[in-house]
Order: sequence, then structure tokens, then C-alpha cells
Amino acid sequence: MRVLVTGGAGFIGSHVVDALLAQGHQVWALDNLEGGRAEFVAAPAQLVVGDIRHPTEWAEQVPKVDVVLHLAAQVSVPHGEQDPLDDGSTNVMGTLKLLQWAKHMGVREFRFASSAAVYGVPMALPLKESAPLSPLAFYGMHKQAGEWDVRHFCEINGMIGVALRLANVYGPRQRNEGEGAVVAAFSHALATDRPAVLHGDGGQSRDFIFVEDVARAFTTRLGQLERGYTLNIGTAKATTILQLWQHLARLAGKDPSQVRFAPARQGDIRHSLLAVDEAEACLGFRAEVSLGEGLRKTYSYLSVAQQ
Ligand SMILES: NC(=O)c1ccc[n+]([C@@H]2O[C@H](COP(=O)([O-])OP(=O)(O)OC[C@H]3O[C@@H](n4cnc5c(N)ncnc54)[C@H](O)[C@@H]3O)[C@@H](O)[C@H]2O)c1
Repeated sequence: MRVLVTGGAGFIGSHVVDALLAQGHQVWALDNLEGGRAEFVAAPAQLVVGDIRHPTEWAEQVPKVDVVLHLAAQVSVPHGEQDPLDDGSTNVMGTLKLLQWAKHMGVREFRFASSAAVYGVPMALPLKESAPLSPLAFYGMHKQAGEWDVRHFCEINGMIGVALRLANVYGPRQRNEGEGAVVAAFSHALATDRPAVLHGDGGQSRDFIFVEDVARAFTTRLGQLERGYTLNIGTAKATTILQLWQHLARLAGKDPSQVRFAPARQGDIRHSLLAVDEAEACLGFRAEVSLGEGLRKTYSYLSVAQQ
């Protein structure tokens, strides 16, 4: 199939491109390179440098495609709080512009990278897709709007719309900032012999999923779904931030007690964990890479990338 991956030069998007190429698809990666890097886009995928908000500027470089995998986004929660207009412009209006372009091009399926941030503070764990949505920041609010726009737009235009609510994604090529970048931040500190900073007591927990598993979720049963879905993509396993630090410090051969504790971040959610049964039932997807294996691959990549 012909597939357009927006944000295809970014951390997760470039792994999605790799997975598509491995499956024999023809791939176009659309990215404005604000956060992504051209060298992350593997050949023979075609990199199209352009902004999702301005399809007329790049439309001639992208042919008719069967599927759009939409990962381009403003990904910084603090930036979204400071400049909600900029966040909304990419994460809401940009998504709508892309949906309109996709309809015009006769796209069959549209998959959207949403986030566990749409849930806000969980009422119960693990979080099911039916849990109340109560995002705490513009980033999560605009992801929620993006999800609903994808679902409704696809419903009324005869397209298959899928929203994937991603847990905390980690892996090679992750930048040292942005959503859920604690693995990259710890790895950076360890590889450069700088003190790592741990906010709060380290007892807060997250659902960490390896990026290659996420790429599989985006590329599983592509073009074969009969209807749209909204699905959690996680591991259903909780890891505390302190456990994560200790694991990475051991991998780096460093003393795990060498960490600086700082005050908890305001608005930090204590525990987050996704239920994953729906993704297995609807998409046949289950995460396969263990935390130990994923962290080993990540640290060996990021520690070299720092040098
Ligand atoms: N990393 C995580 O843990 C996580 C968790 C939940 C959801 N997500 C979502 O997954 C997607 C990918 O995130 P990532 O972590 O790979 O971040 P990333 O910053 O590496 O990737 C985003 C890419 O989008 C590009 N981009 C930004 N604005 C654009 C625009 N207007 N037009 C074209 N390209 C644009 C950037 O250059 C970048 O390459 C995002 O939608 C993000 O919200 C990520």
C-alpha cells in the first residue's frame, strides 16, 4: 500500500516508517523538521519537508495514498500551556486540514497518535478506553479534540478513523525533552556523567512502552479494519520512576544512589497505567518488548548518540 506518515522524521514516526518499509509498503514521510531529523527517514521512503497546516505547499509532492498515519504534533506540554494557540494550530487545525486533504485524495484509513494525557487524573487503574476524559493541559485537551475530529470526520466521510492513545513511549532517537522523555533524560545524564534529577519521591509510576511496539501498533492490520476504533497502546505494566532510574543506572554501570531529588512537578499525575485488552481484541496488538530489553537497546543507542 501507499502510506503517508506525518511526523515521519520524528522519534516515533521514523520507527513507523521503518516498520512500513519492512512490510513492503511505499512510504512518504511528511515533516516540517521542527523536531524531526531528515537522517531518521530511511530509504526508500521519501521525505517531504512541509507543514500539515499548509497542504497546498506540499500536495504536489505526495501522490494518492491509501492510508495516513498522523503523528506530526506540537509535543511539548509546557509549550502548549504557554502558547495554546500554537498547540491548537498544529494539534487541532493541522489535524483537520490533513483530514480534509485525506478526504480529497480518497484515503481509506486514517490513524491518529493520541495520548494517555486525554485521561487526566485517573479515577481507577488500569485506565480503560471508556474512562472519563479530563485532560489537565492544552496538549491533552487538543489531543482529545483531535481524536473526536478524526472519529467524526471519518464517520461522515466513509473513512476508517483510528485513534491510538499512547502510553509513555521510549526508545532510540528520542529527544531529551517532550512528552514522557524521562528515559532519554536519565540516559543523557548517565552517558554524560551529569547528575540526574528525579522530581518527587520517585514513587510515581507510568506505563512505559518500547517504540518498536508502538510502530507495530500503527502498522498492524493496515487497510484491513472494518470500522474505526479508539484504543489504548501500552503494556499494562507499571514502573516507578525510581525503578526506571535504578535499572538505567545499572545498565550504565553507575551508582544508582547518585541522583538528585527535586520537588515534585506541579500537576504531576501519581500513577498511570493503561488497560490493553481492547487493542488486542480489535487490532490483534499486544506489546512484546520487555522493559529490560527495551531499556538495554535504548541506552546503548542514546549513550553513543551523546558522544
Ligand atoms: N513520545 C511519547 O511518549 C508520546 C506519548 C503519547 C503521544 N505521543 C504522540 O506521538 C506523536 C509523535 O511524538 P514523538 O514523541 O515522536 O515526537 P517528535 O517531536 O519526535 O515527533 C513529532 C514530529 O512532528 C513534526 N511536526 C511538528 N509539527 C509539525 C507540523 N506542523 N507539520 C509537519 N510536521 C510537524 C516534528 O518535526 C517531529 O518530527 C505525537 O503526535 C505525540 O503527541 C507521543
